[in-house]
Amino acid sequence: MTSTKTDGSLFLREFLRAPTRTAAVAPSGTALADQMALPIPERGEPVVVELGPGTGAFTRAIEQRLAGRGRQLAVELNPTMADHLAARFPGVEVARGRAGDLPQILAGYGIDRADVIVSGLPWFAYEADSDGPPLVHTLASVLTAQGVLTQFAYTWTRWAPPARRLLHGLRAGFEEVVSGRTVWANLPPATVYFARRPRSLP
Ligand SMILES: C[S@@+](CC[C@H](N)C(=O)[O-])C[C@H]1O[C@@H](n2cnc3c(N)ncnc32)[C@H](O)[C@@H]1O
Repeated sequence: MTSTKTDGSLFLREFLRAPTRTAAVAPSGTALADQMALPIPERGEPVVVELGPGTGAFTRAIEQRLAGRGRQLAVELNPTMADHLAARFPGVEVARGRAGDLPQILAGYGIDRADVIVSGLPWFAYEADSDGPPLVHTLASVLTAQGVLTQFAYTWTRWAPPARRLLHGLRAGFEEVVSGRTVWANLPPATVYFARRPRSLP
């Protein structure tokens, strides 16, 4: 079986088991993955953190862009997905945990700050995941001053209240939030938010 077929069946199975947390029936496509990884600098040794990697659609794009530079850490809540990811990407550090615990997870890996956060999290995670401060605040707090967070939203749900709350939250947490072009090649079509320059939040 090809890895694409394996990824697809694993994804569907985990969706049926945890639909809200998985939030998609199939992995994202390469066109979306390429947009999500775009802010990763082409020079230097950047620290890139991926949230909700699932079966690794964005992980592969990040790995290709880093080409052995810097550090790549993926944080996945679902242990089955995390095991699959670790086996598929031996060069990527895979943390089993919640995005809301990112400061503690980074400390455990000896990482002070991230240059780029690539988030494949569903909007649900922003509303339900953190017992403490809003998740956007937590993510903003671990980025460098010039750091960037990318987050995607399915285009056809962008105007639903939870997605609008997510965008509002990003604008509260970052000085600049720009929407990319719609990635029609993705199923379903998606839009990437590029959130830059985290604000200092209480
Ligand atoms: C919509 S899927 C995206 C998977 C992959 N990035 C892609 O685009 O194909 C969301 C992923 O986020 C994970 N997830 C959900 N809530 C999470 C959380 N609070 N912390 C870490 N991962 C989470 C789910 O287990 C799932 O793998």
